[in-house]
Amino acid sequence: MEPILKVKNLKKYFPVKKKKLFERRKYLKAVDGVDLEVYPGETIGLVGESGCGKTTLGRTILKLYQPTEGSIIFDGKDIAKIRGKVLKDFRRQAQIIFQDPYASLNPRMKVKQIIEEPLIVHGYSRDEREKIVDEIMESVGLNPEHKFRYPHEFSGGQRQRISIGRTIALRPKLIVCDEPVSALDVSIQAQIINLLEELQDTYKLTYIFISHDLSVVRHISDRVAVMYLGRIVEIADKKEIYEKPHHPYTVALLSAIPIPDPEKERNRKRIILKGDLPSPINPPSGCRFHTRCYKAKERCAKEEPKLVEVSSGHSVACFYPENT
Ligand SMILES: Nc1ncnc2c1ncn2[C@@H]1O[C@H](COP(=O)(O)OP(=O)(O)OP(=O)(O)O)[C@@H](O)[C@H]1O
Ligand SMILES: [Mg+2]
Repeated sequence: MEPILKVKNLKKYFPVKKKKLFERRKYLKAVDGVDLEVYPGETIGLVGESGCGKTTLGRTILKLYQPTEGSIIFDGKDIAKIRGKVLKDFRRQAQIIFQDPYASLNPRMKVKQIIEEPLIVHGYSRDEREKIVDEIMESVGLNPEHKFRYPHEFSGGQRQRISIGRTIALRPKLIVCDEPVSALDVSIQAQIINLLEELQDTYKLTYIFISHDLSVVRHISDRVAVMYLGRIVEIADKKEIYEKPHHPYTVALLSAIPIPDPEKERNRKRIILKGDLPSPINPPSGCRFHTRCYKAKERCAKEEPKLVEVSSGHSVACFYPENT
């Protein structure tokens, strides 16, 4: 099967404000050389601690940020270079769902207007819009009779349903879900995850699912990519990565998940990472993770390990991987 999305050497650098007038211009390397292929209909989980570049990667893939370098091939076209009508068409096909349904919905618009807005932008007729709004409300589990209400008249979970409805109204192929349930009550999270899974079936959607909740990612993903300081350090099928993590960073992340079985939980060895995430302005030499790695040796500070496939579909960027 051909990938729907092929990202090559993608970089997004943000210029840092100069402190002194004659200082050299510095850059914050939020995404720094990502390769990724996404296949139609799959869900890729994207994990890693706060500040590692997940959101920036998601937004750059959708061209909400102009990439600094690299290519983004979607449906055979390099999105990094397109503009005008081709870009507008891409915007219809590739969408984002945000974490916070409060911030992303205009409080002065009725639900109907919220869902309709992207349809107007893309030139749908009034009749088509009427039909789509009702249909979409049904498919996200809202009563179409409530379409004249305002966002504040709904609960948090319902608001996320509205925002998901708005996203799928244009029938996109690819959706970046950026922490879509993190702001919600735990009891509501499962409902929204189920809804996303249902919609994926109905509308044949492909998801890039960003989250720091590894249990949620385990539930929803087909494959999982682990990010550290702007790079993907490991990627594999879900089962494989949870059972046989290779990268010490992945091992450490997974060791932080509580296990429901009390006996296993008692024997769980937590690996506490040393220190904080280093600054993406001056990332460490060699392997970026070496400053915090429990396995680091001399070589790790000097040479940068490349992401290489060590078994079918399982790639890791580490000189001394675990469980191999
Ligand atoms: N618009 C921006 N301008 C400048 N720096 C940015 C911008 N957006 C993100 N950054 C920086 O880029 C790095 C990556 O941030 P990003 O938000 O992509 O991380 P994240 O993995 O999504 O984190 P979180 O889990 O907290 O959402 C951080 O150092 C952040 O401060
Ligand atoms: Mg983020």
